[in-house]
Amino acid sequence: MRVIRAVAAMQRLADRLRSGGRLGFVPTMGHLHEGHLSLVRICRKHSDFVVVSIFVNPTQFGPDEDLRQYPRDFGRDRGLLDREGTDVIFYPSAEAMYPAGFATYVRVEELTQGLCGRFRPVHFQGVTTVVAKLFNIVRPDLAVFGQKDAQQAFVIRRMARDLDFGTKIIIAPTIREPDGLAMSSRNCYLTRAQRMQAPVLYRSLKLGRRLVQEGEQNPATVKRRMRQVIKKESGARMQYIEIVDTEELKPVKRIKGRVLIALAAFLGRTRLIDNIIVRLRNNRQERQGRQERKTTDKHR
Ligand code: PAF
Repeated sequence: MRVIRAVAAMQRLADRLRSGGRLGFVPTMGHLHEGHLSLVRICRKHSDFVVVSIFVNPTQFGPDEDLRQYPRDFGRDRGLLDREGTDVIFYPSAEAMYPAGFATYVRVEELTQGLCGRFRPVHFQGVTTVVAKLFNIVRPDLAVFGQKDAQQAFVIRRMARDLDFGTKIIIAPTIREPDGLAMSSRNCYLTRAQRMQAPVLYRSLKLGRRLVQEGEQNPATVKRRMRQVIKKESGARMQYIEIVDTEELKPVKRIKGRVLIALAAFLGRTRLIDNIIVRLRNNRQERQGRQERKTTDKHR
């Protein structure tokens, strides 16, 4: 496994690798966990060479966010990636990625306005700028992102399409702890008490999914029931719960087809996000769910 720090050296090596097979790429900010490693495994399955980048990208953090505390442990990450059979780690410095005079940003409109974008105004512009730069450096045939950061994955897919990067974007399932908490580098900020409460977020998402599958079509009802569970079982402070379509990420008025139920909440000062995609296969199934729900309600 090679570790490359300079942009030009990474470009040269990526060009060489690409001439010998499919080049897969997993961008990360390091402090790797099983979620990241699952992305590397998926990448490996679809490509001949795997490049993983580790770069804590300053432009995607707001002024009051956790850039300085963000956990970093290159030695540990390097060992984990070596064991996964990674071919190259790209590990640039902030100066290499953003040299003096840097003044160009990439912004995806619309998709970045709602959900996390509403509360983190500079975040997605930072993500798309750094990912565009990384794609230009590595020029991968495919890149893998986790569904845990669903809005990020959808925004990057749109950027890759709109700007003709020619990189296939694979969105991989969220990896969870045994109690359901979505794996995240930020989970290490949680106190013991907060860590015990955190799985309520996924429980509320599963409740939301169940209600929808049973035929509930009113997003306000689903969100209210989810909030109730979170409030009852934890001290979490909700930032948002939204039910949006999976194309434009706009809140739906009536739940049908395929929707994303997404939330963000603070446990203490730690902001956690999670989501679930619910797909209703057809109208007949929706009607059947509603019918079954009515019958169950009658017998309660
Ligand atoms: O998901 C992340 O770790 C980051 O947002 C990414 C995609 C590596 C860009 O900095």
